Amino acid sequence: MLGNFTYCNPTKLYFGKDALDGLKEELPKYGKNVLLVYGGGSIKKNGIYDQVVAILKACGKEIFEDGGVMPNPTTEKLAEGVARARAAKADLILAVGGGSTCDYAKAVSVSVHCDDDPWEKYFIRFEEPTCPIVPVGCVLTMVGTGSEMNGGSVITNHAQKLKIGHVFGEEVLPKFAVLNPEFTFTVPRYQMISGIYDIMSHILEQYFSGEDDNTSDYIMEGLLRSLIHSAEIAVQNPADYEARSNIMWTATWALNTLVAKGKDTDWMVHMLGQAVAAYTDATHGMTLSAVSMPYYRYILPYGVQKFARYAVNVWNVDPAGKTPAQTAYEGLSAMEAWMKKLGLVMNLTDLGTSPDLLEGIVKSTLVMDGGYKVMDENDIRAVLKASF
Ligand code: NZQ
Ligand code: ZN
Repeated sequence: MLGNFTYCNPTKLYFGKDALDGLKEELPKYGKNVLLVYGGGSIKKNGIYDQVVAILKACGKEIFEDGGVMPNPTTEKLAEGVARARAAKADLILAVGGGSTCDYAKAVSVSVHCDDDPWEKYFIRFEEPTCPIVPVGCVLTMVGTGSEMNGGSVITNHAQKLKIGHVFGEEVLPKFAVLNPEFTFTVPRYQMISGIYDIMSHILEQYFSGEDDNTSDYIMEGLLRSLIHSAEIAVQNPADYEARSNIMWTATWALNTLVAKGKDTDWMVHMLGQAVAAYTDATHGMTLSAVSMPYYRYILPYGVQKFARYAVNVWNVDPAGKTPAQTAYEGLSAMEAWMKKLGLVMNLTDLGTSPDLLEGIVKSTLVMDGGYKVMDENDIRAVLKASF
């Protein structure tokens, strides 16, 4: 049974080869000062920067730059961005990049007019914004996180060895997002497959919870089938527009809150992955792939029916003559084979994580209680040990 919920997603999307034209429609809605936020320079190499700047200038905007947003953006960079946004008196923050850039833009947007320490307020105390929020727009260049159409913002505090996400409400979601699949063609293969697995993990972590007959689960099975199919094509041919556009659209729907409505969600793979990243700064999707198979095999006995359904509906496992558990394990084996074929990092050792970090990672793992098994410290340790 679907639980009660409210659904509103205010982000306006422009999708396709001409999506950047949407920027011309959106910019006149905001004041003159634009803080242009981007990452380590990929947009300068592939020409997206020039295209965006030309539109900003044509729309009469004053451009203030804030580049150098790193993957897994940090508290130090956030403080720098807040200072830049204040100095610019930013009317709009335009994020051009992947999830890190977009997440960072949101964190800046809720901190510009706020006197509190943003890390303490939003990421430790999980408070909601109490100050005016600077609007954010996003031009997406890397697919995976869903940040273009959600309120998520994930920040890393290296000193405290914590990587924490705050899911903000409607008022913090990007006002608009430009999604041109061609902008993702230059994403390096490692990042592309990492993003693909991030999408899969988002869907699975909302799917593996509850036993009900629930429309969201059927939607997720469809998204998963599309993703599995398109990922294989994109890995062979990164410039296949059809595959890249399907992956881009799937990523958005995987985490724009729709499929979580009316049901419980798990999110423990993300909690494990974020703890790993707090110690290693590793690429987000790979921190998830490295712990996923041990985690799912660990919780499978507590959710056998759903794992069997997953095997049949997503991986085409034939259940005839098998117990639900046999079917379920066969589904996970099919998933594991697909992950290896894509070239994902399958364990923490290959991710370059030292076993000495185990206890620290255990301590940094936050516990969520919506999955088939609520993990205690010993469960977390067992999954992480099996992930090395
Ligand atoms: O920094 P640049 O030079 O732009 O290079 C980036 C970066 O090195 C590169 N890249 C992006 N677009 C490119 C490109 N290279 C060539 N051509 C392009 N078109 O890709 C690298 C990774 O970028 P990043 O933004 O870090 O990747 P991703 O989109 O995976 O974002 C990861 C961050 O998002 C958080 C993660 O924890 C991590 O901090 N997440 C955000 C979520 C949300 N908002 O809801 C949920 C996710 O679960 C996730 O936690
Ligand atoms: Zn993720």
